[in-house]
Amino acid sequence: MNISIIGTGYVGLTTGIALAELGNQIILVDLIKEKLDIIMSGVAPFFEPGVNELLSKHIRTGNIKTTMDGANAIMVTDMTFITVGTPSRKDGSMDDSHIRSASKMIGEALKDKEDFHVVVMKSTVVPGTTLGIIRETIERQSGKKGGSDLGIAMCPEFLREGAAMHDSMHPDRVVVGCIDDRTYEIMERLFSPLGSRILRTSPTAAEMIKYASNSLLATKISFTNEISRICEKVGLDVYEIMEGVGLDFRINPMFLKAGAGFGGSCFPKDVSALMNLAKQLDLDTPLLNGVMKNNEIQPQHLVEVAERTFGPLGGRRVAVLGLAFKPDTDDIRETRSLPVIRALMDRGAVVRATDPKAIGNFKAAIPDIVYSDDLEEILDWAEFVFILTEWPEYGTIDWGSKTHLSAVIDGRRSVDPVSMKNVKYWAIGSPLP
Ligand code: UDX
Repeated sequence: MNISIIGTGYVGLTTGIALAELGNQIILVDLIKEKLDIIMSGVAPFFEPGVNELLSKHIRTGNIKTTMDGANAIMVTDMTFITVGTPSRKDGSMDDSHIRSASKMIGEALKDKEDFHVVVMKSTVVPGTTLGIIRETIERQSGKKGGSDLGIAMCPEFLREGAAMHDSMHPDRVVVGCIDDRTYEIMERLFSPLGSRILRTSPTAAEMIKYASNSLLATKISFTNEISRICEKVGLDVYEIMEGVGLDFRINPMFLKAGAGFGGSCFPKDVSALMNLAKQLDLDTPLLNGVMKNNEIQPQHLVEVAERTFGPLGGRRVAVLGLAFKPDTDDIRETRSLPVIRALMDRGAVVRATDPKAIGNFKAAIPDIVYSDDLEEILDWAEFVFILTEWPEYGTIDWGSKTHLSAVIDGRRSVDPVSMKNVKYWAIGSPLP
């Protein structure tokens, strides 16, 4: 199939590559020329394992092309995916300005198109957006009717950063929300080569499935972190406890790792947006409020325990290992390293930070601390170490030789406690020293 994709951010580019892998012809559309130039050189504008290799391959073969001319891309393709950003406003509500402008552009282009065209919403949006803003705008601009003259679908993205290509090619399920059979059949033909279960719903249900999935995953993490704080005081290891809990197949072992909390572009944004939707509907969300509150408590808790256990941090040299919100990405959105570093600075600690990929991005958030690429140098300088992202290289440090350190605080269980014999060490969710 010939497919145009509006928006070349994380979701747009990985979706384009995955659809090209399935044998489709892709045109990526963006308003920023520099971004398209980078993509055409075979390099993604973000770090994601495996993406550059596949992108280069499909650019070489001509399966992926780019353009700034959205209207023409729509004319020469059979379907258009909308993958523009849906950032949060200050009050947690969704900023729909990019969706509105993309829908307007698509509607105007479809006015002159005779063939049946399917518009697929892929970005995460508040339930009601596809049949509301998107459908209404496209119908108004094109003079055509969704569900008969043109197809409207919502197909949420479930990929994890750091595993984006794997998740795109091997999804647990593909949710297709649509209002007519013709559109569903086209979507089914597109995605059936993946071999995953395809679930047909309404567009609004598809939107809600995405919000509910991310909120439940975030809830599992916050629940684990709450149990973790109780375990620490009772003298138990939460990892052992959650291993036992996760063996119940109704629960499963995933997303039960205690840590400094969840970050990233999805969980905090989507939970907040769902809470905001409920508020507009005059509903309370005591559980989701608790999920977000737990996520704020956990970074502070890490610093408080460190100070209570190993002494005041004011004036001490503290190294922070890990700035990305998780390994294998340079993404720092909502990273828990931010509140931890702020809490350390508030206490007067002298902070230096390192990360294999995310220093550049993080500098914009906190410009006034020292950053270093040199892990050994920063460890030699430090008195205290906080590990906040579980990059594999932190597990292979020769910790036995770091006897000058006053303490290592592991916020992600990234090192083997056996290797910490000569160093004072405390890992989140383990008995308080
Ligand atoms: C998430 C969802 O997993 C994905 O399906 C959705 O489409 C987008 O949001 P992502 O944000 O890329 O993906 O990362 P994920 O691996 O889910 O981790 C999110 C955060 O939760 C990270 O900060 C991670 O460290 C934290 N986490 C995850 C935990 O603290 N404990 C866990 O057990 C799992």
